[in-house]
Amino acid sequence: GLPARVRIHEVGARDGLQNEKATVPTAVKAEFVRRLAGTGLTTIEATSFVHPKWVPQLADAEDLYPQLSDLPVSLPVLVPNERGLDRALALGARRVAVFASATESFAKANLNRTVDESLAMFEPVVTRAKGEDVHVRGYLSMCFGDPWEGPVPVPQVVRVCRALLDLGCDELSLGDTIGVATPGQVTALLTALTEAGVPVSALGVHFHDTYGQALANTLAALQQGVTTVDSSAGGLGGCPFAKSATGNLATEDLVWMLRGLGIDTGVDLGRLVATSVWMAAHLGRPSPSRTVRALSHQ
Ligand code: HMG
Ligand code: MG
Repeated sequence: GLPARVRIHEVGARDGLQNEKATVPTAVKAEFVRRLAGTGLTTIEATSFVHPKWVPQLADAEDLYPQLSDLPVSLPVLVPNERGLDRALALGARRVAVFASATESFAKANLNRTVDESLAMFEPVVTRAKGEDVHVRGYLSMCFGDPWEGPVPVPQVVRVCRALLDLGCDELSLGDTIGVATPGQVTALLTALTEAGVPVSALGVHFHDTYGQALANTLAALQQGVTTVDSSAGGLGGCPFAKSATGNLATEDLVWMLRGLGIDTGVDLGRLVATSVWMAAHLGRPSPSRTVRALSHQ
């Protein structure tokens, strides 16, 4: 069966904007998040407290985050290490996310660490965050395929998932960073995780849409009991450290499918499309989302 309700974890302002060639002005980012909050989305990833030289697009996190403090939504932020956590806590963040990799190649490219070194880096982050009652998400990238290593063995993914949960993460987000997964792989990984004792209620899915499989993969995950789905308004997104990564599953495409299935998300699709059209004008190119195009005659 399918769930009655799905929580959308909106990543457009973080995953989307981290990958833009041109840096988006802080005021435009703030307006983007404000408009997203006005669509009924309740979890809107706002930015990352990473090294500004690694991700210059999000170097304005200190300016942006306080501008959002009046919004009645959750605003998680990415923190790779204690320095990032310090910066986020100083601004009152109540939800943070660490981000691991299932493969050594991407751990090196994204975090300058081995997989185990990055887990060691996250350990004090999670412990301190939990000590302050801050919610911690653990991302796991390259759960299905890796641009350098090819297909990723399921046990390798399960090991890092377990490690993130053992650190104390409240939820995990399983990332198809480069968008190569197909639904059979999704079912196989979720089955293996369940067999390894990971509760499906702790799992979210994060599909990039490179091969147009993100919606099919999402449906496979819903059939396995997943109720948290990451997506980005207008299908923005990608990762500057993973060649061939393209945009995330578009939130509009997701909402269209869920609405058709009678699954509640609380999101006003018309307002969301208008937000993505507005953002596309700022970025100077149309949204890649089929639903945005269909509903806006772009
Ligand atoms: P490093 O070069 O190894 O850093 O980078 P370090 O630990 O050696 O520190 C070097 C200097 O950086 C120090 O300064 C630190 O204070 C400073 P110094 O003492 O030399 O003057 N520094 C910082 N400054 C500000 N904020 C910080 C910070 N940390 C250290 N947080 C590091 C290691 C982790 C910092 C770097 O690799 C990094 O920032 N990586 C972030 C990469 C990133 O943001 N990638 C995109 C997000 S992940 C993603 O998109 C995938 C996802 O969507 C899921 C999916 O699709 O699969 C989540
Ligand atoms: Mg991503």
